[in-house]
Amino acid sequence: MRNLIISASILSADMGCLAKESSAVLQAGADSLHIDVMDNHFVPNLTFGPLVCEALHKHLPKTFLDVHLMVNPVDHLINAFAKAGADQIIFHPEASSDVLKNLKQIRHLGCKAGLAINPQTSLNCLNNLWDHLDFILMMSVNPGFAEQHFIPEVLNKISATKQLLSTHKPSIRLGVDGGIKKNNIREIAKMGADTFILGSGIFHTENYAFTLTELRSQLTL
Ligand code: DX5
Ligand code: ZN
Repeated sequence: MRNLIISASILSADMGCLAKESSAVLQAGADSLHIDVMDNHFVPNLTFGPLVCEALHKHLPKTFLDVHLMVNPVDHLINAFAKAGADQIIFHPEASSDVLKNLKQIRHLGCKAGLAINPQTSLNCLNNLWDHLDFILMMSVNPGFAEQHFIPEVLNKISATKQLLSTHKPSIRLGVDGGIKKNNIREIAKMGADTFILGSGIFHTENYAFTLTELRSQLTL
C-alpha cells in the first residue's frame, strides 16, 4: 500500500501570517503545502504569484511545494514557479495549447508534472499522456475558491481514474482537491485516491494537530 499524503492548501491560511501558518500546519503533521495560483482569467479569483512560492521555499526549504496553476496561459508561469522552488507543477489541460509540451517543460525543469481534471472534464484528456505524468489532480469542486462542497459525482470519477492508472501507469499518484473534510476523506480514499488536498478542512479548525490526527485516523480505519 502506498503512503497517503495530506497536503495543506494555503488558500485558507491566515494571510497576515502566512509563514507562521505554513510552519504550524507542517509541524501539526501536514506532508506538504499546496499553492493555488489563480489569475482572475482562467478562474474568477486572484491569489499568489511566484514571489510567494519563493518566500515559502526560503522559509521552509525542505517542504514539498505543490503548485496548482489555475491560469491561462501556463508556459511562462511554469518557468517562473520552477525557479521559485516548486517541487510539483499542475495545470489544467484547457489552459494549454500544447499539453504534452507543457508536461515535458515541467519535468525538464526538474519538477514533477501533473494535470488537473475539472468535474466536467472528460478523462479522455489523459489518453497517451501516461508516460509524461507524475500526478493527476481530480477536482472535486469547480476551481476558484476554497470552502465549497465536495461534488459527490466525482467519487465515481476517482475510481474510474484509479482503474485507468492500474492499467496504464500505476506509479502516477492520484490526488483529490476541494471540499475534503474528516467526514468524507475515508470514502475518497476507498475510491483509490492517495493524496488529499485540504484548505478550510484544516485551516478553519481550532487545532491543526488534532484535525490532522483525526484525518489520519480516518485513513487507517
Ligand atoms: C480550489 C482549490 C483548492 C481549495 C481547497 O480552486 O484548488 O485547493 O483551496 O479548499 P477547500 O479544502 O476549502 O475546499
Ligand atoms: Zn488546488
